[in-house]
Amino acid sequence: MNRKYTIPYEELGPEKLKELIYAFYRRVDKHPLIRPLFPEDLSETARKQIQFQTQYLGGPNLFTEEHGHPMMKARHMPFRITQDHAQAWLECMSEAMDEVGLEGKFREVYFKRLVLTAHHMVNTKVEDEEEF
Ligand code: HEM
Repeated sequence: MNRKYTIPYEELGPEKLKELIYAFYRRVDKHPLIRPLFPEDLSETARKQIQFQTQYLGGPNLFTEEHGHPMMKARHMPFRITQDHAQAWLECMSEAMDEVGLEGKFREVYFKRLVLTAHHMVNTKVEDEEEF
């Protein structure tokens, strides 16, 4: 067999990834539910997200090199994240994918994986939140 496989990161490429993440944070910036969780200036958040997505898609371990083990769930613990927040995050990402023209199998597989990761970040039930 002489079939050539590319890793997802190579299929997307660094420029397109950057475009995607900027398009994503432009939406986060306008989203009434999740905007308040983020710092006012989103540029450092976007920079870290580009590093993380690079390695998430099988590219170089840029996030780990600068920030150590990702431990994503732990890094999200300071924020109360409900199912609704996960849904909002995913909507911003889906619209960003539309904007930069991601489609087909690649988009489907990438998005499905993000759905799983986003739900893994949920750390607050709505009932719990009402107690605060
Ligand atoms: C489920 C909904 C999610 C919410 C509401 C959320 C929210 C946040 C917030 C508020 C921060 C801190 C931003 C900052 O201080 O700069 C953050 C950081 C981050 N998030 Fe999320 N996030 C979600 C899902 C995800 C998912 C699915 C991923 C990855 C696939 C992800 C990756 C990251 C990364 C890489 C950082 C930077 C971590 C760091 O500061 O070291 N997040 N997120």
